[in-house]
Amino acid sequence: MDTKQDQRIRPDQSSDCSLDPSDIIPQLDRIIDEYDGTEGALIPVLQSAQNLLGYLSREVLIHISESLKIPFSEVTGVVSFYSFFSTHPRGKHIVRVCLGTACYVRGGKEVLQSLEKVLGIRVGETTEDRLFSLEVGRCFGACGLAPVVMVDDSVHQRVRPAAVRDILDQYREEVSDAS
Ligand code: FES
Repeated sequence: MDTKQDQRIRPDQSSDCSLDPSDIIPQLDRIIDEYDGTEGALIPVLQSAQNLLGYLSREVLIHISESLKIPFSEVTGVVSFYSFFSTHPRGKHIVRVCLGTACYVRGGKEVLQSLEKVLGIRVGETTEDRLFSLEVGRCFGACGLAPVVMVDDSVHQRVRPAAVRDILDQYREEVSDAS
C-alpha cells in the first residue's frame, strides 16, 4: 500500500464537506459494529470515516480509537503513514503535480509554481472555496508524458506552466454548469 511518499491513491469524492464530524458518528458506529472483533479493522474503518466526512478530524480519530480499543497514538500513526488519509478538509478536486525525476527535469517544478500562483495556495492546502487541494506525487507511472498533473482520476500530460489556468477552468466550469 502506498505511503506519504507516494500519493497516487485518491480520496473518495462522495464525502460531504458540509458535515460536522459529530454528524457521522451514528453511521460510523454501524460500520464499527460490522467490524466487531475483526483483526485489521482499523484501516477500513478509517477509510469509511474519511469517505463519510471527507477527512479525519481529531474527534473522529478519538472515537475510532475508543471504539476499537486501539491506542490513539497507534491510530494517528496509521493515519500519518498512509497518504490517502487526511486530517484536514480537502477540496472537491485533488490536484497532484508529479515531481518524480522525469517530470521534475521536464518542468514539473515550474508547473507546480504556476499552480500555486493561480490557486493562491501552497502544497498541502485547500482553496477557500474548497474546490481544489494541491498535492505533489513522486511518479504517476506516465513518465513518457512528463510533466504530468493529475486532477482526481484524470491525467493531464505534457503540461506547460501557462496551461494550468485552462486545466483548472475545466473543473470550475463543471461546478457552474451544475448550479
Ligand atoms: S516521473 Fe512523473 S509520471 Fe513518472
